Amino acid sequence: MKIAVMPGDGIGPEVTREAVRVIDALDLGITMTHADVGGMAYHAHGHPLPPATLDIASAADAILFGAVGDPACDALDRHLRPEQAILGLRKALTLFANLRPARVFAGLESHSALRPEISRLIDLVIVRELNGDVYFGEKGFRTNAAGEREGYDVMSYATSEVERIAHVAFRAAQGRNKRLCSVDKANVLETSQLWRDTVIAVAAQYPDVALEHMYVDNAAMQLVRNPGHFDVVLTGNLFGDILSDQASMCVGSIGLLASASLGERQTEFGTFGLYEPIHGSAPDIAGKGYANPLATILSAAMLLRHSLGQVAAADRIEAAVAATLHDGVLGRDLGGTAGTAEIGDAVVTRL
Ligand code: IPM
Ligand code: MG
Repeated sequence: MKIAVMPGDGIGPEVTREAVRVIDALDLGITMTHADVGGMAYHAHGHPLPPATLDIASAADAILFGAVGDPACDALDRHLRPEQAILGLRKALTLFANLRPARVFAGLESHSALRPEISRLIDLVIVRELNGDVYFGEKGFRTNAAGEREGYDVMSYATSEVERIAHVAFRAAQGRNKRLCSVDKANVLETSQLWRDTVIAVAAQYPDVALEHMYVDNAAMQLVRNPGHFDVVLTGNLFGDILSDQASMCVGSIGLLASASLGERQTEFGTFGLYEPIHGSAPDIAGKGYANPLATILSAAMLLRHSLGQVAAADRIEAAVAATLHDGVLGRDLGGTAGTAEIGDAVVTRL
């Protein structure tokens, strides 16, 4: 079993270190190879996603990814900015399905930005499309008819792109509470109209799943009004980016949300994928030793489950994380004082 480890920028290295320690503690005989990504890769090799990194990624069964983003790179051409590392990996490896589970851990109900009686009910997964939408459309700057400079980004989805992510979401719903909410903006956008028509067509193959459609503005509202309503949320790249950050605050901290980015390629042990916390590089707190590593540790659990077939090990990590939180070992993001390494220690002890 081979994992490519890509710590990246900002708090990426410190949170990834703890996840690697957790994997090591399980003693599963996994080989881990480090690779450079993001701003640090740009500084070392002149590119945020060097060819050697892509080679290491392709040779592995899964990727454990920290975070990318570095304010020192803000003035670079877009294709050289740190974010291109993660966007490039998702695209080059056809990792089109991003699963972002959000549920409230026992004992943390009062840490949510929502009232405990509402937050208690959160147990959902956002299935976000990752290879299309306005993220990957034609973009640029131009001079308009009035002689003014304008920026543009084209939003589009092809039917086949919507079909493949819809199948992932329907299957996810079948494995859960069989309710799927497809989020779009079909009252305004043609891209969303095609999205909705396509999801309805795919639904015919999943009669056991209850499908509903929601406009994204309403979904943002319902997510804080009544998050318990949602089981599986299917949405595009841009809306999924926004709604998943929102879901994290409903849970209590963005430092708790893990993610899996999957495609169709199978390895010897499972589905090839990339696993990362949904938070970014948080340059303001980088190196201070108090970033919460739990989102990355939970991402490692997803990696073991989906890409390496190590279901029991994944269960053990998730139980150890739940116990750590339940025992009140909380980082600053949750009003506690535990540092990054201390939280990592607490999880390892509880394994
Ligand atoms: C995420 C992040 C990325 C995204 C950035 C870093 C490019 O916000 O994974 O949610 O927008 O997809
Ligand atoms: Mg995001």
